[in-house]
Amino acid sequence: MKQYLNRGIKEIIQEFPETGRILDTFNIGCTACSVGTCLLKDIVEVHNLPYEEERALMLQISRVIYPGVEVEVPRIERKAPVGDGKITYSPPMRALVDEHTVIKRLLALIPRILEDLDVTREHDRQVVLEVVDFIRSYADRFHHAKEEDILFKEFSDDLEILKSMLEEHRIGREHVKAVLDTAERGDTLSVKFHLTSYGQLLLGHIKKEDEILYPWMDRNLSTAQVGELFARFAKTDEQFRDTASRQKEFVRRLEKKFSHEEVTNNV
Ligand SMILES: [Fe+2]
Ligand SMILES: [Fe+2]
Repeated sequence: MKQYLNRGIKEIIQEFPETGRILDTFNIGCTACSVGTCLLKDIVEVHNLPYEEERALMLQISRVIYPGVEVEVPRIERKAPVGDGKITYSPPMRALVDEHTVIKRLLALIPRILEDLDVTREHDRQVVLEVVDFIRSYADRFHHAKEEDILFKEFSDDLEILKSMLEEHRIGREHVKAVLDTAERGDTLSVKFHLTSYGQLLLGHIKKEDEILYPWMDRNLSTAQVGELFARFAKTDEQFRDTASRQKEFVRRLEKKFSHEEVTNNV
């Protein structure tokens, strides 16, 4: 069984599809993850499974990999103590979760923005450009910069969970670039496809960070590291103060516009 602990989870699911269903029953959504390079042993630690759940999960997986054989299930070594399952955030992590809330408000508007979109119309093309500006300056340059340049640097580059988060940032950027290119060509269908794909990718990404990555990071950071993060985030906030308030205002404006349209349409 030990040899499987160091194998990528997507690989294991591919070889033994039943393991994907088992992980789902433990609320571990590896089958839906777009990257899935995390190792089996990391999944137990990263998801902070209580010891009894860890044993139950590993036992079920071992029965799929070695049917009819009772194998010894090893306890996975943890770097941080197992928590009680409740999510709490340190102040710098809380700030990132709050930024996610702003990003999710914009993502929630995407279906409405795309409804009657026609990028050959100047007005519609402008709206798309404003959305891209929000994504690039707030979600990417401001928020992802905090993650990539500050937070992730506190951990080893070799961690599969970080590689998969960075890969999702990269895929997101590709979609955004494609939105711009296709808007330029007046290709409304492709704009809709890439903006929708971006929204779905980022929603899943944010959920993983809020529920899995940040709590795991908090469990592994020392008080001194948390203090250092807090100070460095405050500096970034200062640098991006105008951008952040301009983009929050943009989201508020869009929300107001659509809620107003809804009221007028219902009269
Ligand atoms: Fe991220
Ligand atoms: Fe994030």
